[in-house]
Order: sequence, then structure tokens, then C-alpha cells
Amino acid sequence: MVSVGVVGWRGMVGSVLMDRMRREDDFSAFEPVFFSTSQAGKDGPEIGGAVKPVLDANDLEKLAEMAVVVSCQGGGYTERIHPALRKKGWSGYWIDAASTLRMKDNSVIVLDPVNRHVIDRALDEGVKDFIGGNCTVSLMLMAVGGLFARNWVEWLTAMTYQSASGAGANNMRELVQQMGVLGEKSKDLLHDPAATILDIDQRISQTLADPDFPSQYFGAPLAASLIPWIDRAMENGQTREEWKGIAETNKILGRSDSPIAIDGQCVRVGAMRCHSQALAIKLKEAIPLKTIEEAIASANDWVSVVPNDKAATLAKLSPAAVSGTLTIAVGRIRKMNLGPEYLTLFTVGDQLLWGAAEPLRRVLNIILG
Ligand code: HSE
Repeated sequence: MVSVGVVGWRGMVGSVLMDRMRREDDFSAFEPVFFSTSQAGKDGPEIGGAVKPVLDANDLEKLAEMAVVVSCQGGGYTERIHPALRKKGWSGYWIDAASTLRMKDNSVIVLDPVNRHVIDRALDEGVKDFIGGNCTVSLMLMAVGGLFARNWVEWLTAMTYQSASGAGANNMRELVQQMGVLGEKSKDLLHDPAATILDIDQRISQTLADPDFPSQYFGAPLAASLIPWIDRAMENGQTREEWKGIAETNKILGRSDSPIAIDGQCVRVGAMRCHSQALAIKLKEAIPLKTIEEAIASANDWVSVVPNDKAATLAKLSPAAVSGTLTIAVGRIRKMNLGPEYLTLFTVGDQLLWGAAEPLRRVLNIILG
């Protein structure tokens, strides 16, 4: 059986990946070998009743024995290990959640419900590096891949509402901690019928401004607030997260040579693990709304079109409703007042599933296929 090395399986994305692979019985198709940078020699996870010791993730000899390496270990690990392994002549498949190799000429960004043709062509051409995309980009493409597939999109803006999970596990903890402090600090006023809402608001504002308010990871309050900055600055005023919109989308679609214009503002909000996005799309022609909805709904098995009414929106189109599922909710679909070629919609998807783990396990199955 083919050996597949798995690195970074104990972290947040790695744990979600492991859970998905167990649920889908992926491990029956290959011999998993678990590596770790810190747990070498300890017991690995139980797979099919067997527990084996974990190998050292810095051991190039052992890694080079693998037909495929799947890494959720992070960009630093990829930067160190991937070139060293290739230099040794290793020609196995490298599947990675980190962004390090995404924009390399000899890598493919994987999102098979959208770009299976790009993946298949790359496999035929001998490409060996298959990299998961930026979560915001992957979730946007899962939502409106049907419009891109028909070449209807002239340009697109994505205004995002990104969850704490995109920033990491510590950030998720910090968000909950911030919520807890706000609840604790306002508790007496909430229980005091004589306290006015402005008293409560003032207490919240004071708490947010307190230098001891927990913000080590975000650098600012997120609970009861938001942060319109994700990742580092580019030279043109964009953040890197915003730049990824145009760069990665066009690479995923295999059209970096004739890119579709994409831009927007990326904003961190106090959701736990679902990224939401408000899209505005300039269509190449005035396509009827019904036809658009059908194209969106039929693009893949996970898109769920939510009727544009209040009850359905509250029930189905929110991080609370989508979290922990593979559903890509797409709602608030309507033409804008700007003209019949202008479409807007709102979409929500789980940042850890379609945004991170799911495309990796699926491309592994395609490669082993
Ligand atoms: N960069 C994304 C975010 C997550 O910060 O939400 C990873 O794709």
C-alpha cells in the first residue's frame, strides 16, 4: 500500500483534516505514517485499531520514503523541509495547507469542485506540489464557481467578514476570552433594572479601552468590535489577504494570463470559524436572476441557495447556521440598483472545512485515485 506521511495532524487544521479523513474512511486507501516536530517516538493516533510511534518530521530520510506528504504544519516547516526534500531528489507528491508554495509556477492551488480540470492537467504534466488555497478565495469560488465556469464574471468585489479561526487557534481562544470579560464586567448592570443601556454601553467601552483587555493575539478588541486588516501590507495599499483575491482566484481557475479583476476589503469579525463575504459582481451581460441562481446552485454538491427573505436568511445564512458543516450557503441574491449587469449576494462557509482541510483530503484521493 502507498505510504502517505502526515505532518501537523495535531494542530487545528490538521485535527479537522484527521476528522474528515476518518469520517470518509480515507485511511483504508493508504498506509498513513504520522510525523511530528515535537512528538517523535510517542504514540500516534489510532487508525483502524493500530497505534504506531510518531516519526520525526525533520527526518528527511524517512520523509523521502513517502509517496505523498500532507503538511498542515505551517509555512515555516514548508520553507525548511520542502526544498531540502526536493534537493535530495524526492519526487513524491507534496500536499500543503500553508501558503508558501501557492504562487510558485510549478504548483497548483487545489479546489477540485472548481478546478478539477486544472488539477488533472497538472497531474498529466507531472506537477508534484498541490497546495490548498486561501480560505476566503476557496469559499468565494465554492459559492460562485458556477458564474466563473460560464465566463459571466467581468469583475468581482468581495467585502469579507472573516472569522477568528483564520487567524489561528490562539485567536479563537482570545475572542471567547474577550467575550467573557465583556460579559463579566457588565453583569451587575445587566441585572440592575435601574441601569440604562447607555450605562451598559459606557461600561463596555471602558472595558474595551482597558489596557488589560485581552488582545495579545489580535492586537485590538474583536468582540464588540471588528478589525479591518488581515495579514501584512502590500505596497499598493491592499493587505495581502486582499491581494490573494485576484492572484489566487485566477491561478485556481487557470487563467493567470488573462486575469479577472477582483478586489475588496478583508475584515476580521467576531465569528468563530465561518468566513462570510458580501460579493458585488459585474456580469458581462444582463443575465436573468433565475438563470444566475440555477448556475450557482448546480455548480457543486455543497452550495445551498437560501431564498432572499428574512426568515430563511436568519435560519440559514450565518456563521451560527453553517459552522461545522460543508454547506456553502449563498443568499441575498439580487440585482443591484446600479444596473441589470450588477449582481450582489452574501455567502457563508466553514473556514476550516472547505476553507482549509477539505480540498487537501480530496486532492490526496485524486492523486491516489
Ligand atoms: N488568511 C486567512 C484569514 C486564513 O486570516 O482568515 C487562511 O486562509
